[in-house]
Amino acid sequence: MQVIFLSVALLLSTSISQGAPLASSGGSVPSAGDKPTTSTASSPHASGVISSNTTAPGSNTTAPGGNTTASIGNLTAPAGNGSTSMWVGGNNYYAYALPAQERYALLDGMKASGMKVLRTWVSGAAAGQKGSDNIDVPDLEANGIGRYDDTILTAIDQLMVDAHDRGIKLLIGMYDQNVLKANDTYGKTYTPQGFYTNPAAMTAFSNRIKYILTTHQNKLVGNQPWSALSSYIFGLEAQNEPMIFLPQSFQEQNWGWICNASQMIRSNVADKNIVILSGGNDAKESVQPLFLESSCPVDVVSIHDYDSDFSTWMPDAITQAKTAGKRLLVEEWGSLVGSDRETQLASNIKALASIGVPWLYWEYITNKDPGQSDDFEIEVNGTDWSVVANAAAAASTATNGVFDFSDALAL
Ligand SMILES: *[C@@H]1O[C@H](CO)[C@@H](O)[C@H](O)[C@H]1NC(C)=O
Ligand SMILES: *[C@@H]1O[C@H](CO)[C@@H](O)[C@H](O)[C@H]1NC(C)=O
Ligand SMILES: *[C@@H]1O[C@H](CO)[C@@H](O)[C@H](O)[C@H]1NC(C)=O
Ligand SMILES: *[C@@H]1O[C@H](CO)[C@@H](O)[C@H](O)[C@H]1NC(C)=O
Ligand SMILES: *[C@@H]1O[C@H](CO)[C@@H](O)[C@H](O)[C@H]1NC(C)=O
Ligand SMILES: *[C@@H]1O[C@H](CO)[C@@H](O)[C@H](O)[C@H]1NC(C)=O
Ligand SMILES: *[C@@H]1O[C@H](CO)[C@@H](O)[C@H](O)[C@H]1NC(C)=O
Ligand SMILES: *[C@@H]1O[C@H](CO)[C@@H](O)[C@H](O)[C@H]1NC(C)=O
Repeated sequence: MQVIFLSVALLLSTSISQGAPLASSGGSVPSAGDKPTTSTASSPHASGVISSNTTAPGSNTTAPGGNTTASIGNLTAPAGNGSTSMWVGGNNYYAYALPAQERYALLDGMKASGMKVLRTWVSGAAAGQKGSDNIDVPDLEANGIGRYDDTILTAIDQLMVDAHDRGIKLLIGMYDQNVLKANDTYGKTYTPQGFYTNPAAMTAFSNRIKYILTTHQNKLVGNQPWSALSSYIFGLEAQNEPMIFLPQSFQEQNWGWICNASQMIRSNVADKNIVILSGGNDAKESVQPLFLESSCPVDVVSIHDYDSDFSTWMPDAITQAKTAGKRLLVEEWGSLVGSDRETQLASNIKALASIGVPWLYWEYITNKDPGQSDDFEIEVNGTDWSVVANAAAAASTATNGVFDFSDALAL
């Protein structure tokens, strides 16, 4: 999810827009808001919603090349061309900072519907994200580059144990572009743009990654470093949405940063069951040809897409990824509250089930949705939860997945 000031958003020509960062405190950084524009999700409100067990128009069509159907809750969707297990999960970037009972509520809700993966990242979170009562947790380097404070890692240690107890694994980002853009320690030291080009920044970031993955130890599981915890960790990525706030030309010149930073992860993590992901970008921009090259240590290309356009471009991307021996994951998508959300959710879920690529919803929360900007939130057991929960339950028995994630999902 991208988060930028509205005034900045108006100056951008990109299709991404955003929410407002929160003031930070105690060295933690803003996170939050987010919001990509969604051409479809931002359409005018429709007068009614369909219930999650209504059969949507077109649901009895068959996808090209497919001749079976996959059930999504009570929806029926055309099946993809794959033949492996499907699964889904969700995002919550401050899950580690939630009080225990709310952390349990999130994980219990995910477990009850058969969800497999929770994505979060190491960036610190100010208290009160999305109206929750999460505590303030400072970033690993809130006190300065290389001055590591393990508070956040210790909190994630607990989260991964709680998740594992419920058959859920974590996808963990080493850092977030939202906080870099907002001038956190790295932003101030190297400038947000220089973070990606300054050799000193690369060294500092490499040290951060090494510290997270090999120096820090999880005391709850025999003092093992995260690099040894493949039964708790699904995958790792260098940064949430690297460079997404920078001009396209800059991104094009520096896609290699993602490969280089992925190599920093792989150099510390020999276990290939922990997959390395690319961190996502704007819809099909997420899938850069460079990431599919064998020289780039990205195993799974992360897709972030709020445009409800999966069906238009993903089949080609799937073909390319399969040819390259790489995998795709829709790591973020969401449908805005309002705009006939239940219909939007159902149609996106149907498209993704048809395509046969797993997904993580942005995002699940444990309190009543505060209705902030970029309002994609779904409260566990609250409004519209049944839609994603039913989709997760259906995915857990569907076998039309096009990519085999059994290595990374193994508990
Ligand atoms: C599916 O439809 C049946 C009735 O056919 C209903 O009893 C059930 O509650 C529906 N399931 C969901 C998840 O909506
Ligand atoms: C849809 O589910 C609701 C309960 O959630 C049930 O009352 C209704 O009968 C179901 N409709 C169909 C067509 O199955
Ligand atoms: C399902 O298929 C039948 C026959 O092919 C068609 O008449 C009907 O309109 C379709 N239903 C929907 C909801 O698309
Ligand atoms: C799908 O198509 C293949 C090849 O045409 C056929 O062998 C198979 O039986 C079909 N499966 C179903 C469920 O119709
Ligand atoms: C949410 O619903 C699930 C399934 O019914 C239940 O196990 C869980 O306790 C509920 N969580 C909360 C916080 O109500
Ligand atoms: C970050 O700091 C730079 C100067 O170092 C400034 O130009 C930029 O506006 C700042 N950005 C934010 C979001 O505060
Ligand atoms: C990636 O690393 C290679 C080898 O050190 C270097 O030549 C290249 O400039 C780096 N790319 C980026 C975008 O930093
Ligand atoms: C299935 O494969 C056919 C050709 O092999 C392709 O045209 C179609 O787009 C694929 N369907 C999906 C959902 O990927």
